Amino acid sequence: MPYAFPHFDAAAFLRDTWQRRPLLIRNPWGQWHNPLEPDELAGLGCEPGIESRLVVGSDSQWQVEHGPLPESRFADLEGSPWTLLVQAVDQIVPDVAALIAPFRFIPDWRIDDVMVSYASDGGGVGPHYDQYDVFLIQGLGRRRWRVGPKCDEATPLLPHHDLRLLADFHAEADYVLEPGDILYLPPGFAHDGVALGDDCMTYSIGFRAPSRADLVGDFADDLIEHMAEDDRYADPGLAQQANPGEITADALARLHAMVTEALADKQAFASWFGRHASQPKYPDNDWRPDAPVSADDVRAMLQDGQVLERNPASRLAFVRRQDGGATLFADGQDFVVPMALAESLCAQQHVGGEVGWLDDETALDVLVALFNQGSLVVEDDED
Ligand code: SIN
Ligand code: CO
Repeated sequence: MPYAFPHFDAAAFLRDTWQRRPLLIRNPWGQWHNPLEPDELAGLGCEPGIESRLVVGSDSQWQVEHGPLPESRFADLEGSPWTLLVQAVDQIVPDVAALIAPFRFIPDWRIDDVMVSYASDGGGVGPHYDQYDVFLIQGLGRRRWRVGPKCDEATPLLPHHDLRLLADFHAEADYVLEPGDILYLPPGFAHDGVALGDDCMTYSIGFRAPSRADLVGDFADDLIEHMAEDDRYADPGLAQQANPGEITADALARLHAMVTEALADKQAFASWFGRHASQPKYPDNDWRPDAPVSADDVRAMLQDGQVLERNPASRLAFVRRQDGGATLFADGQDFVVPMALAESLCAQQHVGGEVGWLDDETALDVLVALFNQGSLVVEDDED
């Protein structure tokens, strides 16, 4: 079922709220449908290769267990409140991936994943803050959210707790969310959500923001792979200096320029960042087809009316090239493609034969490569 916000003013949200302040958005969906059953979520928490946590307890007495959980675990949870949290459910359940669609007024590369939680009465993960923006959608049942002030690295945390809980939490706002309601939190705001009654499900659309340390470190790692051994410091015309112990301002300026000139290469940066931002979240998951397809196979699929869809676990993005084309990034790889193909794949997340790719050898080769690396898949036959 396609989700949309019929009356939500995305432009006003970006102007006044995004990254600035928390906001409670009462059911903007029109009709809300909870896309995943609690039992299905419990099943995912037991599967290997899926990142999940079980948090048991309340009031500063929390215990965290990491999945996969034994199925029998859910039978002995009587008594203490508990929460099961499963990461990146959008990569596995298309109806959960569909929840992202109305939030695509924010660029795709900023989106991290959809985490889904289920809590029993009184369950929660304790007061904390996250480094990222999040939309907390109430899926099923009710949850009381208390929201506090903005925190930072100096905010005291409880000692030795892998939930990074706040030592002092003072709520400034208090809301009860019903199914379909959304709480938006910018990075850093203290929050504490407690289930009111059983069957409380929350869908967290989480965003990401690279740290400067990661950007500098990872870009530099990429650059050095292409640097030649003989690209070295040189000082012809070296001026005699009074003290041989001094590293002179001239030498420092030349050395510093070697670093900054390399980092200032904007084309290299765009190419690296696109590949970096489109890296799969779980690179060990192999989505490739059983047998690679050829250009003739893809042509036949498209002629047959089949549609190639973005794998929900794949990350796609593009940047404009000066020649009017695009560099398309898909799961860490880059491809030079016609702009129309990049736009169609990234905006609509699918491509069919109708646009004329069948006659465009370059575009067809890219579709073949995307299919063979598992970024594109054939749409399920709905008949
Ligand atoms: C939850 O879904 O229970 C926790 C989400 C959060 O506080 O970030
Ligand atoms: Co949180």
